[in-house]
Amino acid sequence: MLASLYVENRQFLAPWQPRRPDGYFTEGGQREAVGAALAQQSSGSAVPLAILDPEGALVGTITLASIIRGAFQSCSVGYWLAERAQGRGLATAALREAAHVAFTDLRLHRIQAETLTHNVRSQRVLERLGFHRYGVAPSYMHIAGEWQENVLYQLLTPTPDRVVTHG
Ligand SMILES: CC(C)(COP(=O)(O)OP(=O)(O)OC[C@H]1O[C@@H](n2cnc3c(N)ncnc32)[C@H](O)[C@@H]1OP(=O)(O)O)[C@@H](O)C(=O)NCCC(=O)NCCS
Repeated sequence: MLASLYVENRQFLAPWQPRRPDGYFTEGGQREAVGAALAQQSSGSAVPLAILDPEGALVGTITLASIIRGAFQSCSVGYWLAERAQGRGLATAALREAAHVAFTDLRLHRIQAETLTHNVRSQRVLERLGFHRYGVAPSYMHIAGEWQENVLYQLLTPTPDRVVTHG
């Protein structure tokens, strides 16, 4: 299902994602990517999630990645929706649930998000959920074949006084 969703949305997603080899858009490529994501989940560094529409159809993914413990207790969130699923609030709802997972289940302190400077749709999703825009990073991420400037956002835990054990 993921492979066919990626094939359907390859052109739509191209300006917003890293360049990927053709093999990524095949069932084998997606099995490999899902396997890698699940391995990261097992080691505690990521939580990969699927976004379903109200009818239960797969329409995108959202991932809590780069989970760092110790004094940072932070992760970075990435998401995408199929073009046909846009404009219905599904990404906003998915991010709200992912933030709940980050702060409640994972007990993290901070979620980072970064968007291309001109990715206004994504910025609207973040701002709707209270993410704070705290900086601009030049030449930050290799997207669509070039190093591009990103706007940096963060959302902090609603329970900042919780005791954290540094391990
Ligand atoms: C970024 C992306 C996920 C945003 O998708 P989206 O459809 O705009 O976001 P949502 O699903 O939250 O929908 C919000 C829109 O639906 C509307 N909407 C309708 N019903 C809604 C509801 N119940 N709740 C919230 N919004 C609703 C909102 O008004 C909003 O439209 P607006 O921004 O024009 O005002 C999507 O454009 C995408 O996948 N882009 C390519 C990949 C990408 O850029 N990923 C992010 C990298 S940082």
